[in-house]
Formats: sequence, structure tokens, C-alpha cells
Amino acid sequence: MRDLQGVIRQRHSARVPFDPERPVSHEALAEILEAASWAPTAHNMQNYEVIVVEDPSILRRLGDLKSGLSLEFIRENYKQLSFSEEELKKKKTGIMASMFPPSWRDPALFSHLEEAAFAEGPSFMSQTLRHSPTVLVVTYDTRKRAPASEGDVLGFISLGCVLQTMWLVSESLGIGFQVMSAFSSPSVEPGVRKILGFPEHEKIAYAVRLGYPQKESEPELQKYLRVRRDISDFVHLNRYGENFPSIQEKS
Ligand SMILES: Cc1cc2nc3c(=O)[nH]c(=O)nc-3n(C[C@H](O)[C@H](O)[C@H](O)COP(=O)(O)O)c2cc1C
Repeated sequence: MRDLQGVIRQRHSARVPFDPERPVSHEALAEILEAASWAPTAHNMQNYEVIVVEDPSILRRLGDLKSGLSLEFIRENYKQLSFSEEELKKKKTGIMASMFPPSWRDPALFSHLEEAAFAEGPSFMSQTLRHSPTVLVVTYDTRKRAPASEGDVLGFISLGCVLQTMWLVSESLGIGFQVMSAFSSPSVEPGVRKILGFPEHEKIAYAVRLGYPQKESEPELQKYLRVRRDISDFVHLNRYGENFPSIQEKS
């Protein structure tokens, strides 16, 4: 395994097609899932189930589901977009607009949601899945919540710890990884539930696609600009608003 800081820095969203002929081995999946089981969860409730989907006929049925897209999502997504690398580097948060279809980048189209959402043709989950040979659907039990946790916020944080653990181990194994929030949207989840057969009390937290990026998508991955705030932008020393000196300032 590579050193932890290196793996953390290299971990990224692999928004590219995966090689459909190269599924993730069960040995690698076991390594990823074993690590997930050691993720911290509130009260050690281990509030998750993971459905590993690799059967091509089931993946096809998931891909045939219509993807749900709300006006709320398109509007709020737009606020996070940068239209040039310079803008993104300056903002230090958000995503490049070029990663989304043209109709999501033009507010003039937003008032015509139907046309905006489907300007590039009808939208199906297959466009999100992009030939993934392996998909993990992570669910949580809505009847259980971390003790006295309003809205089960501690339970959701726990699901995030599981996500990050799986992501880092996948990265360390050279396996591409992308979160697909669309699986938990109200218009998609019922179809997924029907296909995968999980009970009503289980809800989808998130789904992830795993695989090995196709050779021809490597340049696309390389040019994908990822930005972060400097620690001095979000760390406060002793009191909110008090500067945390950067290493350079200290030396
Ligand atoms: C809870 C959660 C949901 C996310 N949902 C999606 C998603 O639906 N589609 C996607 O491409 N990326 C999704 N992401 C990935 C983020 O957009 C990504 O981590 C962020 O832009 C930083 O980029 P990086 O992962 O390459 O560092 C999600 C991440 C998290 C933690």
C-alpha cells in the first residue's frame, strides 16, 4: 500500500468509462469491504449494508432506469460551477462546468426543465454507470438512528466515514471509484429497490461505481483540475476568525 498522505492526495472521482471486461476481483472487493468494516460509526452501530452488483443482466436493468433530475439540483449544481480553470483556481471550491452537459450550464434553459434535462436526449442511469463492471449500493436502516442524534446526522457522518475508507483503499489498489448520488434520488430509488430486492426500511445512502479506467480515458483523467482551499482559509486558531499561521509564515 502506498503511503497514506499520497493515497489521500491522489484519491479522486473517476468520472470516466471503465473497462467492462475487467471486473474488480473478489479479493480486491474483500480488501475494500474489510477496510470499510473498520470505519468509525456513531456508537459502533455499523449502520450500513452493501450490495455488490456485478451480474451484467442486473447492471443492465439498473442502466435502463430513467435518471431523475430536479430543477432544484440543476440550479444548485450551477452555483458550484466554474467556467475556466482560472476561476476554479481562484474559488478553490466546486467543479469545472465542462464536466456537465451544456443544458446544465445555461440558466436560460432552467425554466424549461423538461427541455433542459433532456436536451441531449432522454436520460438513463446507463449514462451514469458508464460501463461499470462493479457497483456497490450502500443502504442504511431508517429504523435505527444513532442515540439522540437529531435527523440521524451522526448516522450519516458514519456512512461518510465508510465511503472515504472504501475510496482510499480502492485508490491504493489502483481501482477507479465514483460516487453516484443519483441512485438515492426519489425517482430512481424505487426502481433500484425493485431490482435489488432490499426491504422498505433500508434506504440508499449512495452507490459507487468501481473499475479500471479504459486506456483511452487516461488523458481525460489527467487533465481534470482538482482544487482545495488552503488550510489557512478554513482553520481558525483558538477563536473563530483568528488566523492559523501557515508553515511558510512560521519559518
Ligand atoms: C456524499 C458525496 C456525494 C457525491 N456525489 C457525486 C455524484 O453524484 N457524482 C459525482 O460525479 N461525484 C459525486 N461526488 C464526488 C464529489 O463531487 C467530489 O469528491 C468532489 O468534487 C471533489 O473531487 P475529487 O473526488 O476528484 O477530489 C460525491 C461526493 C460525496 C462525498
